[in-house]
This record gives sequence, structure tokens and C-alpha cells, in this order.
Amino acid sequence: MSLAPLESPKRAEIGMSPRGISPGMRAVVRHSLFWLVVGNSIGVLLATLLLVPGVNLWLGEWTYGRWIMVHMNLLLYGWCSLPMVGFLFCVYGVDRGAAAGWARPVVWAWSVALGLGSFSWLSGHSSGKLLLDWSGIARIYFPLAMTALWVLLAVAMIRSWKMRELHGWGARAGRVAGLVLLAAVPPLIFIASSPGIHPAFDPDTGGPTGASQLESSLVVVAILLALPYGLTRQKQPRRWTVIASWVVLLAEFALCAALGRTDVSHHRPAQFLSLGSLLVWLPLTPVYYAAFEWHAATRRWRNAFLCWWGLLVVSGWVLFLPGVLDRFKFTDGLVGHSLTAEAGFVTALLIFTMIQLLGDDGWIFNGSRAFYAWNFGVLAYVALMTIAGWIEGADPTFTIVPGLARESIYLLRLFTGVAMLTASVHWLRDARHLGREAQSRPAFLITSAPVLEKTA
Ligand code: HEM
Repeated sequence: MSLAPLESPKRAEIGMSPRGISPGMRAVVRHSLFWLVVGNSIGVLLATLLLVPGVNLWLGEWTYGRWIMVHMNLLLYGWCSLPMVGFLFCVYGVDRGAAAGWARPVVWAWSVALGLGSFSWLSGHSSGKLLLDWSGIARIYFPLAMTALWVLLAVAMIRSWKMRELHGWGARAGRVAGLVLLAAVPPLIFIASSPGIHPAFDPDTGGPTGASQLESSLVVVAILLALPYGLTRQKQPRRWTVIASWVVLLAEFALCAALGRTDVSHHRPAQFLSLGSLLVWLPLTPVYYAAFEWHAATRRWRNAFLCWWGLLVVSGWVLFLPGVLDRFKFTDGLVGHSLTAEAGFVTALLIFTMIQLLGDDGWIFNGSRAFYAWNFGVLAYVALMTIAGWIEGADPTFTIVPGLARESIYLLRLFTGVAMLTASVHWLRDARHLGREAQSRPAFLITSAPVLEKTA
């Protein structure tokens, strides 16, 4: 594959800011990496607590049970969400006009909500719902911070409309539809955090049904298919792979609607076979992404995200099969699966997205040592938890009663966590240099001229 220099007008054409990184985007990268480092540090603390439970005694009331909520929530609402705020800034043109000055305060409001949330979780407040753990004042403040973001996006869209920067009805309709959908998110977060509302469940495990797993996975696929339109352009319009992918997605949503939303066991063939329909995305996703133009600096993380996606889809389906799920449910095996999803797939996708948005400034994520430390760290973590989960499935005392095998696995997990933490500290440290001219960066950080992968 040959590479072509990326001229300034070309940056604008594929969705990047022609003037380099905006203050809002810089804030997004720094805040999201900050929360990644905080979340990972807490992860290392948790891994230590599971290895040496006596350390809990030194922590007063702030023991394992409170830190685990902070760990999961900060990584989901800080690290996994803020880069998407950067994506929305780019799509709605928040880096231009009067709106640009409000981007940083909005990012700060989001981070303050996470700070408030952390304080409330550490103080023992909880909605009791995993990943929808907003209660008390934080349950009001976080949706308000999201609403502030929504207002900023709406103002920026109206401005670019007036300035005739939005061309074509498709671009306008897409952004209006996006705003309508996004308007529902703050009230939904508020309502869904209520302890009184529950989705359908599998009576054999107490976990989600195959239909609800399929539904949430299809929302992820829809995001994957929509993402390139905000980041770049298609190599050739009307490529059949692109059209076919959208048709398959619609067909799968129809299948999901036909399955209904009742409580039902994973032993029903209709449940695990329909979830297996996700396997079609193994070949389709790479082919779909190959139909778009990408900045050359994204290649490493784009490949990583596609590999993690493949592993997630296959392992997620296998884990749901009768016999396998019965052994793995509520064991360390599912901790490993959560890490495949968030630390593997979502993290690689977010970094790939940020590199595309940052363009020339995406160099901060391309250091080899941090790349391998992160990806192999997560992979080793997942492998260790799968082994621990498989043993735990047959012997539930395995992860509780001290023993050589348990301590060895948990010690190795601690090492993988330190590797991941080290990688994230590197990225946060390098993010201080974001937007600086190449000459003023430390020599080891200077990369070659910006390049775009050329169409064959
Ligand atoms: C992007 C980075 C990370 C994400 C998104 C993440 C996410 C999660 C999630 C969702 C859980 C709950 C799993 C479940 O109960 O099913 C979890 C638990 C946990 N994580 Fe992380 N994590 C990350 C990084 C780390 C790191 C670096 C460590 C350090 C070793 C770590 C250690 C732990 C531990 C010890 C648990 C508790 C496991 C248990 O209760 O048995 N995590 N993490």
C-alpha cells in the first residue's frame, strides 16, 4: 500500500480540523486519558486487594466494594465516553465560531460530574445497578453535564448551517437525526439509574437473555457502521460492501424484534442461534472499514480494534452457549470478557478514532512500547481470567481460598495491570505536548510528515 502526503485542504475534506488541534479537542484527549490513568490505578489497587486482602484494613470504609464501583464507572463514563465527545465536537463543528470557546468548559463539567460521582460511590451511595450507578446529587448533575454538551452541539450546528458550511441535505438530516437521538440520552440515564427498572432476564443465570445481548450488540454494530461518516469519506460512493452491511444490520434488527423481550433461558436454541448471527460481522467489519479513507497513522490501532472485535464476537457467542455459560456465569471468566470488550475492543476503537481526529497530532498513541504493553497486557489479563473462571466454575472456592494456583494467577494479573497502567501514563504524559510545533516537542516524539493511506 503506498502513502500520499496529506495536504491541509485534504485534512478538512476528511473531517480533520485544517487549523490543527482545537482547545476543545485537546481538553477531550487530556481529560479522557486522565480518567484512564485514574481508573487503571484503581484497577491495580483492586488487584492488590484481591491478592493481599489484609490491605483492606488500612483503607477504613473505602474498601474493595466501594473502589470497584469507582473503577468501573470512571472507565466507562470517563475513558470510554469522553473520546466520543471529541468525535461529536468534530461532527458538529464545535471547533469553529463562538461555540469553540465553550468546548473546554463542557469537558470540565463532565469531569466534575465524574468527580462528584466518585465521591458519592466512595461514600457508599449506589443505585445498585452495574454501570448505571448514578444516585443522589450525581444522578442529577451528570445528566445536566450531558445536556450542556447537547446545547453546545445544537448551537454549533445552527452556526455551521448559517455559515453554509454544511453541504447537502444528507449531511444536514444526519446531524439533526443525531441531535434528536442524543436529546434522549440524559433523561434515559436518569430514568434507567432507578433501582426499580429492570430489563428481561435469563431465569437460568439471572443474566441478560440472548435477545437483549443481541440488541445491545447491534447498537454497537450500528455505531461501528455510522462512525466512519463522521471521520472520513468513502473511497468510492455506492460500494456494495457498504450497502450490504447496512442491509444485514437491518435484517438483524428485524430478527431481534421477532425474538421479543420476555424472560427466557439461554438453553432455548432460538436464543443462542440468533446471537450467533453476529458472527457475520467477522468478515463484514474489516471489509466495511476498508471502503473508507484513513489517515496512515491509524493503521496500527485500526488493526488492533478489528482483531479485538473478532475476539469479542467469537468469545461472546461461545460464552453464551448452554453448558459454557452455566460454568462461567459469575466467575472470573466474565471479568475477562468485560476486559475484552472495554479494555481491548473499545479502547482500541477509541484510540483509532482519536488518531483520525487528531491527524498529525495522533503520534502520541503510536509509540511501540505503549502499544504492545497495552494490547498484550489486556490479552494476558483475559487469558488469566479465562483460566481462573474455568477452574472456578467447577470449584467455586478457587478464587476465595488462598492457594498456589490462585495466588499465581492473581499475581500475574497484577503485573498485566501494571503494564496497562504504564502505557496509559505514557499517553497522558505525551498528551502534554499535543498541538505543539514539531520543533518544540522532545526529539523522541517527532514523527514524519502526515500521510493518508492511498486508495489502490
Ligand atoms: C480500560 C481499562 C479497564 C477497563 C475498561 C476495566 C473494566 C472493568 C470492568 C467492567 C470490571 C467488572 C468486571 C465484572 O464484574 O464483570 C472490572 C473489574 C476489575 N478490574 Fe478492571 N478495567 C480496566 C483496567 C484494569 C486494570 C489496569 C486493572 C489492574 C489489574 C484492573 C483490575 C480489575 C480488577 C481486580 C477487577 C475486579 C475483578 C473481580 O471482582 O474479581 N482493571 N474492570
